[in-house]
Amino acid sequence: MSEVAFALQIRNIKKSFSSSDINFILSGVDLDVKFGESVAIVGKSGSGKSTLLQICGLLDEPTEGSVIINGSQCSAISDDKKTLIRRNSIGFIYQFHHLLSEFNVLENLTIPQLICNVDSNIAEDKAIEYLNRFHLENKKHSYIQNLSGGERQRIAIIRSIINKPQIIIADEPTGNLDNANAMVAFELLNEVLKHSNAGMIIATHSLEMANLCSKMLVLENGTLK
Ligand SMILES: Nc1ncnc2c1ncn2[C@@H]1O[C@H](COP(=O)(O)OP(=O)(O)OP(=O)(O)O)[C@@H](O)[C@H]1O
Ligand SMILES: [Mg+2]
Repeated sequence: MSEVAFALQIRNIKKSFSSSDINFILSGVDLDVKFGESVAIVGKSGSGKSTLLQICGLLDEPTEGSVIINGSQCSAISDDKKTLIRRNSIGFIYQFHHLLSEFNVLENLTIPQLICNVDSNIAEDKAIEYLNRFHLENKKHSYIQNLSGGERQRIAIIRSIINKPQIIIADEPTGNLDNANAMVAFELLNEVLKHSNAGMIIATHSLEMANLCSKMLVLENGTLK
C-alpha cells in the first residue's frame, strides 16, 4: 500500500480580489509540505502570505488552482465537507490567539474535541495531558483575559493540535509577542510538530524563526521562490 507523503499540496493557486487594483495577489503558487516538515513563508507586508494561508486552510477560495490535503482534493467539494476537513485535519493558529474569552483554559481545549465527538472525560484528560507537558497545568481554570500574551498563544498552539491535525497552518503565530515569548511559543510549535508528525506552514516576519524551519520560501510578485 502506498503511503501519502504530503500533508499539503497546492497547485497553480491564483487569487484576485474584485475590489483590488492588482490583477492577481497570487499568480500561480505551487507548494508541497511533507509530513514532519515545516515550511516558512516570508515576504513583504501585503505580498499575500495571509491570503495564501487562508486558501490552504480552506477559509477562502482560490480564483484558480487546487488544494490537496493528505491526498484529498479539496477544491470542488461542499462547504460541509470543507468544514469537516478543517475540523479534523487542519490546525490554524492566528497572530492573535482567537481563544474563547468567556471560557476557561480547560474549556477552550475541550470544546474543539467535543465538536469532534470525543467523549468529555477523554477530552478533559487529553487537555490536561497537554497542559502538563507544557507546564501550564496551574492555568487550567484561568480565564483567557487573566493570562499573559505568551500564555494565551501557547494555549492557542495546544488548541490547534489537540485534534491531531495533519497540517498546522500558522499565520504570524508569534507576531504580537516579545522576542523571549515568541521563541518559547515557537519552540512549543516545533515540539508539537515532532510529536505529531504533522506538516506545518508558517508565515513569519522573523528570519530567526524561518531559519529554524525545514524550508524557507519567499512570496514575491505573486509566486513562491
Ligand atoms: N478581502 C480582500 N479584498 C481585497 N483585497 C484584499 C483582501 N484581502 C487581502 N487583500 C489584499 O491582498 C494583498 C495581500 O494581503 P495579505 O493579507 O495576504 O498580505 P500579507 O503578506 O499577509 O501581509 P502582512 O505581512 O502585512 O500580514 C494586500 O494588498 C491586501 O490589501
Ligand atoms: Mg498577513
